[in-house]
Amino acid sequence: MIKEAFTKEEFSGKPSNEFYKLLGGYGIINTQGTIWRDQRRFVHGCLRWFGMTIFNKKNNNQLETRIMGEVRCLLDNLKSQKGRPLDLNHCFVISITNVICSLLMSVRFSFTDPLLHQLMVKIDEGFRLFGGIVFLNYFPFLRRFPYFVKELNKIKENKEQTHQFFQNIIDDHKKTFKSTNTRDVLDFYLLEIQRAELTGNSQNLFEGKDHNSQIRQIIVDLFTAGMETTKTTLHWAIIYMLHYPEVAQSIQIELDAVVGRKRLPTFEDLPYLPITESTIFEVLRKSSVVPLGNSHATTKDVFFRGLRIPKNTEIVPLLYAINNDPNLWESPEKFLPSRFINSEGRVTKPDHFIPFGIGRRNCLGEFLARMEIFLFFSCILHTFDIKLPEGHILPSLEGNFGITLNPGAYKVQLIERPFLEDSNSNIQTLPDCLNTKRMYIGSH
Ligand code: HEM
Repeated sequence: MIKEAFTKEEFSGKPSNEFYKLLGGYGIINTQGTIWRDQRRFVHGCLRWFGMTIFNKKNNNQLETRIMGEVRCLLDNLKSQKGRPLDLNHCFVISITNVICSLLMSVRFSFTDPLLHQLMVKIDEGFRLFGGIVFLNYFPFLRRFPYFVKELNKIKENKEQTHQFFQNIIDDHKKTFKSTNTRDVLDFYLLEIQRAELTGNSQNLFEGKDHNSQIRQIIVDLFTAGMETTKTTLHWAIIYMLHYPEVAQSIQIELDAVVGRKRLPTFEDLPYLPITESTIFEVLRKSSVVPLGNSHATTKDVFFRGLRIPKNTEIVPLLYAINNDPNLWESPEKFLPSRFINSEGRVTKPDHFIPFGIGRRNCLGEFLARMEIFLFFSCILHTFDIKLPEGHILPSLEGNFGITLNPGAYKVQLIERPFLEDSNSNIQTLPDCLNTKRMYIGSH
């Protein structure tokens, strides 16, 4: 039903709630109509240019090179911990932030950067504050109550501080911008503004909205959409491996056999790694990182499956419910990566597997997210055994509800697995299903 609705233009609107009002019609996630369509096309074009498509092999490598730079930094950092019990959150935040910031604005942060620390505090606070006023979307009269007036003011202040961080980077960027050398998404936007000025089209650009505010909101949208979701999925992947060490072990056996112990996995290996890929899919299903998707709204009165849905009705896609529906999945409560492998040993995705949404407003960063999750997850498992520190209890598989479903704090021990000079020695035997079929075709 969600698929049928969300492929229709009239379901691609956005509810005019507190989020919508606060963002003033800027950006991409909370816009609708012509500006959303144009911006989506433009951002999509930029991301494709950087290799976010299976059709752009040359630039895929560029994207992979950027991600792998961060993977290697992370692995070095983790190795330096020498197996001590570790909270991975800070490392994951930095690594995933650096990937998205490098694509958006060619910026990267060190593991100890105080500026980034401040930004993350503000972003976490923003997510929490927004979570606290969600009632206002359904009971708008509450906005006059002193408690909500105070909370709304805090949100505005939080937004200004977050935006100032990105504004400083945009201002620096403008000083070094060269129209002949587009380094990142931000440069593509600066180029677009320059072109509009040269052709006298400046007033029509972004539907006449303020150029600087639009660029800033786009950067904020892509940063927040891309960082929190990917980082949280990586956490869940590690947590599921703590709960299911036998799955972690079969991934390691697969990686040792296909990749060998002389190098790290690459994106080209993915089609030959069905256990790894199906485990990532099962983590995405079980963790339901974006449990309620993003709200849509009807752009006009709609007749759908015999129902009349009035214009501006908010539509919430219950992705969590889809992921756990016993009519769609056999034993949905079980963690079973093999549900994504068909009888021929190939990875397969059923139509109802939609962790990135579906239809006209589906996730713009799906390709990037899948590449990041695969490279970070497979490289961590290839390099380390993941263990629960002695005396610690297994982290809960119940997420804390917010815009994303987040795991609670937990610690792990990462024990280095040696890389060998002779890649053929010390490799365990593969399970039968892997020995017989070595040429897997991934679903991507
Ligand atoms: C595991 C990682 C991710 C998950 C699970 C995820 C999931 C989603 C979902 C469920 C939606 C809502 C689709 C809808 O409205 O129907 C969405 C939208 C979106 N995502 Fe992602 N996402 C992820 C990573 C990313 C990344 C890395 C980026 C950055 C490039 C990104 C950018 C966006 C944008 C811009 C939208 C809004 C699209 C629109 O309204 O037209 N996401 N994502």
